[in-house]
Amino acid sequence: MITTVVAAALIVALPLLSAAERTGENIYKTKCFACHDSGAGGAPKIGDAAAWKTRNKAGVDALAAAVRKGAGIMPPMGGCGDCTDAELKAAIRHMMDKSK
Ligand code: HEC
Repeated sequence: MITTVVAAALIVALPLLSAAERTGENIYKTKCFACHDSGAGGAPKIGDAAAWKTRNKAGVDALAAAVRKGAGIMPPMGGCGDCTDAELKAAIRHMMDKSK
């Protein structure tokens, strides 16, 4: 009985813990790299300072609003449907930091 309760608690808690652990780099490398490493579909490539100059100026809030909606072939939330707002912004900041 107690084992069942503990097991049930773990099943509920583990995804929450792993979700809370995701860094911007982690999200980028699992959800965003496919397009933003290669520039697929006209995606601004990570590390391409020219492509990011005006985007970095626009700031993370404006970029996050665009990513939430989706743009071109980029799906809403950049394909990270389970990203929190903080995780999405952390991923965007990771891209901005690498693209100065
Ligand atoms: C299926 C390919 C694809 C995936 C996956 C993808 N993107 Fe994009 N992204 C694009 C393309 C294409 C554009 C350029 C859209 C345009 O300006 O027309 C873009 C643009 C952006 C921009 C700039 C938006 C602007 O207003 O200029 C940001 C920031 C961004 N993506 C972040 C992300 C993040 C964060 C993720 C992962 C959570 C992600 N993208 C996943 C294709 C993708």
